[in-house]
Amino acid sequence: MEKLEVIGSKKLKGNIKISGSKNASLPILAATLISTKKIKIQNLPIVKDIQTMIFLLRSLGSNIKLSKNNNSIEIDNSKNIKTYASYSLVKTMRAGILVLGPLLARFGKAKVSLPGGCAIGARPVDVHLKALSKLGVKYKIINGYIYANAPNGLMGNIIKFSKISVGATENLIIAATLANGKTILKNCAIEPEIKDLINFLRKMGCRINWIGKRTIRIIGNRDLKKINYQVMFDRIEAGTYMIASALTAGNLRITNIVPKVINTEINILKKIGIKIKIKSNEIIVIGSKKVKCTKIKTSPYPGFPTDLQAQLMVLLCKANGRSEITENIFENRFMHVAELNRMGAKIKVSGNKAIIEGNINFNSAELMATDLRASVSLILASLSTKGKSIINRIYHLDRGYERIEKKLQKVGANIKRNSK
Ligand code: UD1
Repeated sequence: MEKLEVIGSKKLKGNIKISGSKNASLPILAATLISTKKIKIQNLPIVKDIQTMIFLLRSLGSNIKLSKNNNSIEIDNSKNIKTYASYSLVKTMRAGILVLGPLLARFGKAKVSLPGGCAIGARPVDVHLKALSKLGVKYKIINGYIYANAPNGLMGNIIKFSKISVGATENLIIAATLANGKTILKNCAIEPEIKDLINFLRKMGCRINWIGKRTIRIIGNRDLKKINYQVMFDRIEAGTYMIASALTAGNLRITNIVPKVINTEINILKKIGIKIKIKSNEIIVIGSKKVKCTKIKTSPYPGFPTDLQAQLMVLLCKANGRSEITENIFENRFMHVAELNRMGAKIKVSGNKAIIEGNINFNSAELMATDLRASVSLILASLSTKGKSIINRIYHLDRGYERIEKKLQKVGANIKRNSK
């Protein structure tokens, strides 16, 4: 099984170019199913979750041509599309549920596996299903599959989500684009990836407007165009490398981004003592030996992202005192804590709160990655300590970080992949 070996304590210096966003690409790829016109998508990240979505679309009958370097594709969903998404593909990636909305919108029926359990929490899809039923969808759950159909087609409606969910907002936006009449979605997630999905759909000809901070109006329209779309940057990848620079007293220029999208992260890092210079499409992050302790809560955008919580925790282990992180999105997202404590961290978890003692010098160790963002937090901790650390089970990491060891090597890290 592949592992990563890291010998830390090197200051990271140089440029890191941020890839396209995984979490924007996934709903955009799923949304191609609503159209019979050719679609080209560029700036896809070369990561496992995108491959899985491409497998899933191909299993549904999509005709997909990948570019040589795999980061742009042409999709033709004009004919022979099936409406059955199997367990084997949806179980490995929760975002597989995002094909439900588009299949129902175009064909009025779908059989989609429920996503499997997930290490970071139960992650149900009740909010998706309840909202879809308001558009006229009837469904049953049998043997782990959602059997859904809309006998009279999807009908526009006013829907207020019972909780803010990124995936449910995306599924419903896509479903409503082809529905009859007008749909109003209230209490929507407003993550930048959702705005990117809306930009993509609008370019295709869908009629979608923001009519309030968390309210979207969609007028059904089946007259769609052939388009070429460039996916936004990955803000979580950008945040991860910002923290890598901060942790190693480094000096990284992080390029190919739109800084205002990550204002919250920039302001929090500045507040704890990290120097950040902001330019139009890049930032320079200069690490400091003096990091100040703080209290952070994760929350839906524009709050601090849960997907950067583990990474920030590593940095706070270096702060000048006790910090606190409250995880408000997922109920079991502190699995990195046990491994960080094995490296010498002093973190105590009580419910959804972690108390993090500062002034920690990590020890190197052999480690086990548990989920995507937890894995990268172990790399960050390893980069900040002298000895050799080994990180096992890195398939989690490959789901969401493009060529991470190559990007880190380029800025001076001593990190290598070992396939033995
Ligand atoms: C997306 C992101 C993920 C990120 C998360 C929160 C993608 C592919 N993934 O995941 O990286 O961590 O947003 O920013 O974009 N919930 C329910 N019922 C539902 C749906 C969600 O109870 O039907 C709960 C979840 O268990 C979780 C919370 O709502 O506790 C938020 O989940 P949601 O925003 O839906 O996350 P995802 O779309 O799965």
